[in-house]
Amino acid sequence: MPPIYWEHNGAMSADPAVALVERLQHGAGAELLAGLPPYDEGTSLSLMTRLRDAGHDPDLVSAALTQARLRSRARPRLGDLVDRLLLTQDGVEQATRPPVAARRATLLASSGVEHVVDLGCGLGLDSMAFAQAGLAVTAVEADPAVAAAARANLAPFDRVRVLVGDAHDTDVGAADAAFLDPARRVPGHADTRGRTRRLTRLEDLSPPFETVLAVAQQARVTAAKLSPAFPRAAVPHDAAAEWVGIDGDVLECTLWWGLGPPGRRAVVGTTTDGEVSWHEVRSGPHPGVLAPGADPGPWLAEPDRTVLAADLTGAVAALVQGQELSDDAGYVSAEHRVENPVVRWYAVREVLPLRARTVRAWLRGRAGGPVTIKKRGVRTDPDAFRSELRLPRRTVGDDEVILVLTTVAGTPAVLVVDRA
Ligand SMILES: C[S@@+](CC[C@H](N)C(=O)[O-])C[C@H]1O[C@@H](n2cnc3c(N)ncnc32)[C@H](O)[C@@H]1O
Repeated sequence: MPPIYWEHNGAMSADPAVALVERLQHGAGAELLAGLPPYDEGTSLSLMTRLRDAGHDPDLVSAALTQARLRSRARPRLGDLVDRLLLTQDGVEQATRPPVAARRATLLASSGVEHVVDLGCGLGLDSMAFAQAGLAVTAVEADPAVAAAARANLAPFDRVRVLVGDAHDTDVGAADAAFLDPARRVPGHADTRGRTRRLTRLEDLSPPFETVLAVAQQARVTAAKLSPAFPRAAVPHDAAAEWVGIDGDVLECTLWWGLGPPGRRAVVGTTTDGEVSWHEVRSGPHPGVLAPGADPGPWLAEPDRTVLAADLTGAVAALVQGQELSDDAGYVSAEHRVENPVVRWYAVREVLPLRARTVRAWLRGRAGGPVTIKKRGVRTDPDAFRSELRLPRRTVGDDEVILVLTTVAGTPAVLVVDRA
């Protein structure tokens, strides 16, 4: 490692932001944080006053209450693990969800590497998963206060070291694995809901995408976590790209080098009783698109959003023995229902031309339950289409009508469907 790095030597840092994080980790600060009641926005000001009046250091009180607030916000995403973490606002927003980090760490460990360098470790959620999978970890973080939080979070693991430094200057050995999760948000530019602004351009990543590519040529295995909106055309020819999602949320696109052949896959997580099971869809031969004029059949399969992000509707059609409705519709039609966790099935009731007048006439004969409009593969604005239907203000009964605005064998159509 180049000499710009420092490792923690136990002395309190001269950087006030770092020192504050360290004070929360030990002694009075840790006790104060551990003794706070569950966070309540409404009473936090009076609690702050009480703690200050009781003689606690005001800086430490605000820092501890900030941690309590961040923990309560992060709990839905990160679970009860938050009670053992020191957090920052940006760090929480960018932290990998534990089941996703655990799956990646298991894959990395299965490749036979023993040491992983986490370049831009943030609060250390991925590093933690690597350590739990039995890997030795060198975690590098440019922001000293974030590195201090990562150091606290990773303290229970003895084969982990956290260094302050720039990913760009870090040597990664040929036997090592590398992991990069470039920052995708602009720190300090919060929107009205307190979230930092998201970066969407590839060239705005930090560490930059060029660093990802350079590291991938050095390390034995490299994984890079990127936005789920990562452009498919930008996937390097020597990388495998997997889109990962849980319960319908598309969370990330991970690029892998050195582990399996290049190609695309979707990795769909489903949660049951708090446990996530993973289901993979890989690119491969598929049965093609419905022929012009063909009937779409009695069943319609809607692939999980993660499958759509990976553009693998064709592969799903093969899995459920159906055919793609159209080239870019993102739906599969089938003669029979083949259950698979990556699809949701609908029974096709009717196929109508994509004309509001015709659909309005079809709806007129019905009781008037709620109408749900889904749209994919056509330009039609669903709100404008809804207003053209002139639906009654109040719905009568609960017989929901689902209208799917799409194309069947290239022809715009409305499928009236029922949830299976
Ligand atoms: C998306 S976060 C990592 C989150 C982490 N994987 C987790 O789940 O907790 C990216 C981190 O990279 C750091 N970073 C950005 N540019 C860097 C660079 N050139 N060198 C080292 N760290 C960098 C940022 O400060 C940020 O904390």
